[in-house]
Amino acid sequence: MKRIGVLTRDCAGVNACIRAVVRTAACYNIEVVGVFKGYEGLMNGEIKIIDRRSVSGIINLGGTFLKSARSKKFLTEAGQIEAVKNIKNNGIDGLVVVGGNGSLTGAHILASKYSIPLIGIPATIDNDINGVDLAIGVDTAVNVALDALDKIRDTAISLERIFVVEVMGRDCGYIALRVALAGGCEEVLIPEKEFDIKKMCEEITRGNTKGKVSWIIIVAEGKARACDIAEKITQITNLETREVVLGHIQRGGRPTAIDRILAARLGNFAVELLKKQESGKCVTLKDDKLVAFPLEEAIKPKDIEVENYYKLIKILT
Ligand code: F6P
Repeated sequence: MKRIGVLTRDCAGVNACIRAVVRTAACYNIEVVGVFKGYEGLMNGEIKIIDRRSVSGIINLGGTFLKSARSKKFLTEAGQIEAVKNIKNNGIDGLVVVGGNGSLTGAHILASKYSIPLIGIPATIDNDINGVDLAIGVDTAVNVALDALDKIRDTAISLERIFVVEVMGRDCGYIALRVALAGGCEEVLIPEKEFDIKKMCEEITRGNTKGKVSWIIIVAEGKARACDIAEKITQITNLETREVVLGHIQRGGRPTAIDRILAARLGNFAVELLKKQESGKCVTLKDDKLVAFPLEEAIKPKDIEVENYYKLIKILT
């Protein structure tokens, strides 16, 4: 193993992970090249050497200094062949792919179909990687959303209002469930669960008659738009309702200690595995121990324990 490539998606903690990859590799005199703009950059040959110095001062920064992009072309065979050609032409002996479902699916293709030595590191605020309790970026995203929510609660209480807060999660309600539980919210609407807006409004009206004056309802973006839910609540209950969309602020920001530590450990482990000629694996922590399991498993759908979260949120409301 003389040269490792690293390719990333963006979320808080990814920079800390790149730093861990580069500095671990440096200890073994393995050179690291950064693949800029994800799979798009891999196909276009946007590949540059990065050294210990290139990754100084980034441990506390959100995003990814390697930049990222969503790529449709990489889903095609022609795109994949381009990517493999660039891996070979750039003398890359092993690849570390840091990202979510899409990135790890791409990683699985490169490892299984084209025999590229490769380790995947889960990094996605959605926390929807199967077999992974906590992906890089999740802790920061939930804390960013929670911080915003606490501020919204100040106004909700002061002005006796209902707030509908939209959090990220196109296909997955994980952030919504965590934020609703940590924020003491009354209701949470997620893609994985049916909901009945009339029933919810009846509960609100009943509570209001008994003197309850403010509510915070979390909605995952993949389930519905906050503005539509807020409008319906006002129509049905006649109570003042506002919507807030938190959006991409959840994906950025200064990574928490949990994310930085996770990133450091997984980045280091990925290089150790490549050195041992392991490939096609996803790394994670189980009982605080580093483990690796097949990427094929990681990209299967994940059960996020919806009912357990949901029940608890309701009990504690
Ligand atoms: O997968 C992470 C995520 O932030 C989802 O929560 C969200 O639905 C999606 O990415 C947004 O993607 P984009 O930034 O490409 O609009």
